Amino acid sequence: MHRFPENFTWGVACAAYQCEGAWNEDGKGPNIWDEYCHDPDLHAVKNGDSGDIACDSYHRYPEDIALMKAHHVQAYRFSISWARILPEGTGRVNPKGLEYYDRVVDMLLENGIEPMITLYHWDLPSALQKRGGFLNPEIEGWFENYASIIAEHFRGRVKRYMTINEPQCITGLGYGAGTHAPGLRLGEEDLARIYHHICLCHSAAQRAIHRLAGPDVQVGIVPCGALCYPEKDTPENREAAYRATFEMHEHDWLFRFNIVLDSLILRRYEATAPAAVKRFAATIPQSEWDRMEAPDFIGINVYRGSMVDAEGKPVKYPQGGPLTACKWQITPEVMHYGPLNLYRRYGLPMIISENGLSCNDRVYLDGQVHDADRIDFLHRYLLCLSEAISEGAPVQGYLQWSFLDNFEWASGYDERFGLIYVDYATLRRIPKDSVRWYAEVIRTKGDCL
Ligand code: BGC
Repeated sequence: MHRFPENFTWGVACAAYQCEGAWNEDGKGPNIWDEYCHDPDLHAVKNGDSGDIACDSYHRYPEDIALMKAHHVQAYRFSISWARILPEGTGRVNPKGLEYYDRVVDMLLENGIEPMITLYHWDLPSALQKRGGFLNPEIEGWFENYASIIAEHFRGRVKRYMTINEPQCITGLGYGAGTHAPGLRLGEEDLARIYHHICLCHSAAQRAIHRLAGPDVQVGIVPCGALCYPEKDTPENREAAYRATFEMHEHDWLFRFNIVLDSLILRRYEATAPAAVKRFAATIPQSEWDRMEAPDFIGINVYRGSMVDAEGKPVKYPQGGPLTACKWQITPEVMHYGPLNLYRRYGLPMIISENGLSCNDRVYLDGQVHDADRIDFLHRYLLCLSEAISEGAPVQGYLQWSFLDNFEWASGYDERFGLIYVDYATLRRIPKDSVRWYAEVIRTKGDCL
């Protein structure tokens, strides 16, 4: 009996701003992360880092793809930089932008690696932010136009799309806490409005992709948020973890899966949504609810979850318990119960669109990067994922975050999430022990776990 389904996809993931660099080359327009990092008064990003050069994947993609191939990677989830394609966000198309992604997609296909495109991983063209960004209802049309250009261009070559990565971070961190670009701190009703616009964007893009690239092309969205798992494996505890995952509270409603998925799939807000969301919801015309499209699949980014007791109350993480380099709790059980709970509520197939951790990686005296912590982490999470699948969660693939060390947003280059080490002084790539381990997992279809 195999742990993972026969047609399961094993891959890796990254995002344009985090790895491409070439921030002002070949006609690319500026985006909100360029501006956020470059603003000398903001001190927004650690060490004043930026994605100007990042891993230089814009120039070194052949080497990166060769490394993927050498390690049996079956799919590469990457995002497209909107401002490379449409420097002003709308209007004029930059052919050189499309040509870059043509080269990437074609080289992936030649090497037997499936290109999975994320349309939006946080780098809004600055020209659109000047017009209000996600707060402006016109964003639905801007995004639909951008999605249409991509869908038509890559018709026949790309079979799986993800529209928007982590609306929760876009809204909560970018427009709420101001700790991500565009660095705004808006009130709750505006934040609810932004969520709604993001859902309309997803829906419009999904319709465009199906129309232009074909009905068989799969379109997902990648929400994130707190996934709860039970302290003990009893039916009562499991039930409590399910309830706790979807309940909203004034202090954490911004970071729930259902603030996005309930709108798209159930076309309503959760009964426990806070007053600000309900006030906003009362203003939504029926025609906008009617435009919501349930995704073909849900992309889930899994890093850490929250343990809850039989009443659904949080259980304190043990003091001195295992932590990643950026001090995130290590909770593999979330990979078991998270997909099951999402499936129970929404009934849709899923892809683990990100999973990984930052480690204090370094080059040892022998010239190698020995990252036993990463191997142990991924091993535990994958075993739990196999539990979820054996209990009926239809998970179609697993994408490790990230293939290369890269620009980790507000933490700059301090955090290393890669299977491949990047020496930022020389941009040299050094495969870590974990990538050889992952290659074996892929080669054996997970049977070696
Ligand atoms: C994001 C990635 C990020 C990763 C690790 C996810 O929230 O999609 O862009 O690098 O987590 O923080």
